[in-house]
Amino acid sequence: MSLKVSVLGIGYVGAVSAGCLVSLGFDVVGVDVAAEKIAMINRGVSPIVEAEISTLIAGAVASGRLRATDDVERAVLETDVSFISVGTPSAADGSVSLRAVDEVVWAIGEAIGRKTSPHVIVMRSTVPPGTAEDRVIPALEQASGKRAGEGFFYYSNPEFLREGTSVRDFHAPPFTLVGAPDGDAAAILRTIYAGVDAPVHVAPYRIAESVKYLSNAYHAVKLAFANEAGSVLSAYGVDAREAFRLFCEDRSLNISAAYLRPGFAFGGSCLPKDMRSLVSLADRKGVPAPFLAQVMPSNEAIIGRVFDLISRHKRGRIALLGLAFKPGTDDLRESPFVALAERLLGRGWEIRIFDRNVQTARLVGSNRAFIEQELPHLDRILVPSVAEAVEGATLVVIGHVTGSDQDELLETLTNQPVLDLVGLPHIRHLDGIVYQGLCW
Ligand SMILES: NC(=O)c1ccc[n+]([C@@H]2O[C@H](COP(=O)([O-])OP(=O)(O)OC[C@H]3O[C@@H](n4cnc5c(N)ncnc54)[C@H](O)[C@@H]3O)[C@@H](O)[C@H]2O)c1
Repeated sequence: MSLKVSVLGIGYVGAVSAGCLVSLGFDVVGVDVAAEKIAMINRGVSPIVEAEISTLIAGAVASGRLRATDDVERAVLETDVSFISVGTPSAADGSVSLRAVDEVVWAIGEAIGRKTSPHVIVMRSTVPPGTAEDRVIPALEQASGKRAGEGFFYYSNPEFLREGTSVRDFHAPPFTLVGAPDGDAAAILRTIYAGVDAPVHVAPYRIAESVKYLSNAYHAVKLAFANEAGSVLSAYGVDAREAFRLFCEDRSLNISAAYLRPGFAFGGSCLPKDMRSLVSLADRKGVPAPFLAQVMPSNEAIIGRVFDLISRHKRGRIALLGLAFKPGTDDLRESPFVALAERLLGRGWEIRIFDRNVQTARLVGSNRAFIEQELPHLDRILVPSVAEAVEGATLVVIGHVTGSDQDELLETLTNQPVLDLVGLPHIRHLDGIVYQGLCW
């Protein structure tokens, strides 16, 4: 028996989903509150302007496999799966308005209460992390009087299509992402998308919901970066399109997963210096570059956040592992660990620091000058081994530790709390450790 699908909200996403789901072989009922959209669909006319969609909708309606209604209850009773694609616009304060989601979820829940077979609900609308577990599933349970995983099954399945090419994107998305409860492989969605050429990733609800936000925010960040940097460059007679074309040729650092692992602040002798220089080039020509200008303050805010996390701990001695701006170097210039240590010392914390590559006697040149300025008493707080830093410490802050020093850390840790800024493998699940990851 072929699955029957209802699509709630037949705007840009819903109309495309409805048409494409018919082309994948399913019977579809579209549901909306807008009478004119319902009437258009039922006449075989697409409610939106999009490549390919007019023919798709006309064909789907003519074949009797697509129709539209305003009756949520009947749509739910007559179908096996409901896709939710109602709008989630910005509220006045910038937060997302989930009013339409709440309405439609409640109506679906009530209908599920009257159904004898389990129903599947799939959230296509963009909703904030936590919506499934904190809002939608409890509402569905309350409205239906049934339990998730028994009377109904809920999945989040964010939509990654772009207006203008959405039919093509529906059939060839970067991936199919499904948020599901623990242990549920989302077989039903794998069946529905069997005809779509894309890998399926199943993740916890909150992760799936987050990826959609990350994607759109990242696209916005890329655009802001390209537009502002392009404006600055053009003020200096540069063809920014050509500069960006070449920039994008670097697939190892520029267009890649590099620098996309959330963690502690960046530093070193290049990134901060060149970032400041680009902002100053903008200033000198009066080119507005508010986005670029916020990058260094954003980085400093991460150091501030870590300082605040540390400040919540009981006063005692901190072991800071890692001082250079990254592992494998003794370069201390603009290291965020130096900035953190300086701030902690300034507030009267006691610290012992270990970094295998940093020995004060061997520091030379601008590196030495920097540290003499920032941490003049480094000699007194730098210790030669992980054990000497960690023994007796009341808090261990892991910046970077490599090789055999990691083994020594595992052996030396007793029961003191650990604040991990890097995501060191094996530490998180150690017995008896009070572990805190920076953002994981
Ligand atoms: N437009 C895109 O390219 C795109 C891409 C990916 C994700 N999204 C997300 O998908 C969702 C839908 O976006 P859209 O652009 O299709 O919005 P849209 O405004 O075009 O369509 C939303 C539809 O929902 C209907 N609706 C509102 N309340 C309803 C209710 N209670 N019952 C039934 N229908 C109701 C509206 O009448 C409208 O037709 C949003 O969360 C959006 O962020 C959009």
